[in-house]
Amino acid sequence: MNILHISSSPRGRASESHRLSRKIVDLLLARHPAATVVDRMVGDGSLSHVDADYAISQHSTEDVSQEGTAATSAELIRELEGADIVVIGTPMHNFTAPSGLKAWIDHVVRVRWTFNVGHHGKVPLLRDRPVFVAVSSGGKFSEDGTRQPDFLTPYLKAVFAIIGLRDLTFLSVQGTAFGPEALAASRDQADRILQEHFRHLSP
Ligand SMILES: Cc1cc2nc3c(=O)[nH]c(=O)nc-3n(C[C@H](O)[C@H](O)[C@H](O)COP(=O)(O)O)c2cc1C
Repeated sequence: MNILHISSSPRGRASESHRLSRKIVDLLLARHPAATVVDRMVGDGSLSHVDADYAISQHSTEDVSQEGTAATSAELIRELEGADIVVIGTPMHNFTAPSGLKAWIDHVVRVRWTFNVGHHGKVPLLRDRPVFVAVSSGGKFSEDGTRQPDFLTPYLKAVFAIIGLRDLTFLSVQGTAFGPEALAASRDQADRILQEHFRHLSP
């Protein structure tokens, strides 16, 4: 059993989304003590944007280079293919994914590698597997009366479906900007939902 843990906040291990995603990893480890965990931090700017050769390859009939971003992409895709479960920690940035996570997505959603283009559109090439997404947001985005749109959840659902990942579970700590009491309540709520979710998971 391999767990791939993607953490995409610029605040790294101190971040709220990392904290929640790490909790999910720990719950998975409690169920699968022999599992290995690959930690991939993508929020600190260390993952570059895709380069020109990679961009050209995305609309060509073959890869124009195996170096630069293509090599990084190959490594990240290998990690993803080797994972039985994926856990992603992500803040909401400007209603959607932070740039570090977007850069990772640009590297792994790759034509001929993780999807093909057929007569009827894109055809996924990866086998499905559980993907847990732990979201942290300053405001609220999923309750009645929320004052902001949520492009993060539908975006991740749509983009992961392209490569074959459809078994997505979203958990969140929302309202981190509303003060310590609200944060504590939001954390408690996320913990309760998480425990409940794992109680009902098949072994
Ligand atoms: C560049 C940037 C954009 C943000 N945009 C939003 C937003 O659109 N909606 C929101 O609720 N919070 C927004 N926030 C606040 C973060 O989502 C919030 O602080 C979150 O708890 C950070 O999670 P982290 O500790 O995992 O990084 C933004 C923060 C940053 C730095």
